[in-house]
Amino acid sequence: MTVQHPNSFRTQPDERGHFGQFGGRYVAETLMPLILDLETEYRKAKDDPAFHAEFEDLLEHYVGRPSPLYFAPRLTEELAKDAAPGMGAQIWFKRDELNHTGAHKINNCIGQILLAMRMGKTRIIAETGAGQHGVATATVCARFGLPCVIYMGATDVERQAPNVFRMKLLGAEVIPVQSGAKTLKDAMNEALRDWVANVHDTFYIIGTAAGPHPYPELVRDFQSVIGREARAQMLSRTGRLPDLLVAAIGGGSNAIGLFHPFLDDPSVKMLGVEAAGYGLDKDHAASLAGGRPGILHGNKTYLLQDADGQIIEGHSISAGLDYPGIGPEHAWLKENGRVDYTSVTDDEALGAFQLLCRTEGIIPALEPSHAIAAVARIAPTLPRDTIILANLCGRGDKDIFTVAGHLGVTL
Ligand SMILES: Cc1ncc(COP(=O)(O)O)c(C=O)c1O
Repeated sequence: MTVQHPNSFRTQPDERGHFGQFGGRYVAETLMPLILDLETEYRKAKDDPAFHAEFEDLLEHYVGRPSPLYFAPRLTEELAKDAAPGMGAQIWFKRDELNHTGAHKINNCIGQILLAMRMGKTRIIAETGAGQHGVATATVCARFGLPCVIYMGATDVERQAPNVFRMKLLGAEVIPVQSGAKTLKDAMNEALRDWVANVHDTFYIIGTAAGPHPYPELVRDFQSVIGREARAQMLSRTGRLPDLLVAAIGGGSNAIGLFHPFLDDPSVKMLGVEAAGYGLDKDHAASLAGGRPGILHGNKTYLLQDADGQIIEGHSISAGLDYPGIGPEHAWLKENGRVDYTSVTDDEALGAFQLLCRTEGIIPALEPSHAIAAVARIAPTLPRDTIILANLCGRGDKDIFTVAGHLGVTL
């Protein structure tokens, strides 16, 4: 049974890692002892003030936290232009794109590498899609002097060339994965294979709030710094909580990181934004909108699959959102109704990308551009005193070649 306190949505998974019917640990027998060790070590770390102190020190002095909370005046005005009188919500951003390495991924990598070292592991592996998690993992490995192997789908290696070069500069070995659609799902399969073969010395740093228990819980906990900071910053700047939180969803780590500290604030609504790709009736990556429950990568969750249960490849303009699944806690939050989920197409995300560049002088990654597009849809329908807080979870440097290609510009 999932442990849920009455009137609380801040669920801890049960002892086998279930959030409602979702989650769990569906892994090979050879991995079970390691998964159990990881859980034991994580429980100890969670109760150890020295672990928290080191985590927080690195977040402050190495990552550059707290990230700012920013009111976006010109975007707010632009979106209010066509709204009815008195309408047009205020738009605020949590600026996690200003973190070292340019995205939220580093928060989780710092937490997991500290855990790896507590466990005496001497080799790190990871999977990556957009390359942001790979860069963040290679970064913490360089910082702590551990060898690092990154699995990356061959398609992603091509479309995220600058990040591949960054990882190599940081000393990581990048292994292009040639199986399947050669994207994130295939990279994760390959990383799991490596882990099974090398459990004695290897720690697998998973990049999103998915995978077998306890990963969804521990990634969420490490990313919750986003929501904790945002909550305190919003209270101190405005004296109240935001009305609506919005975040893009690949596997769901930046979204759950923002949402979790607000789950028990009933006045705060939440919206997760999946990638609708070419449209929900065509190729997309919206597992909640277009998928059904199944098992992948060690956990039960909503997955894109065909009638025979074969996983369908996700499509999104954004390499970080094309995962065909979603973290199990989101599947649970959808089913219990605490969080709403919507989706945004490639074209809408491209439009939002350009809108933020022009109105605020901020070049966002294509992933949070999905959140911005959802904000652009909703803000004009809400009263002027409504506060929307969206997570700007990555900066757009890595995406300028993709965007140029879509705009017909040759660089
Ligand atoms: C900038 C950025 N945002 C969002 C995501 C999606 O991941 P998640 O849903 O775990 O936050 C990625 C994944 O690579 C990313 O690079």
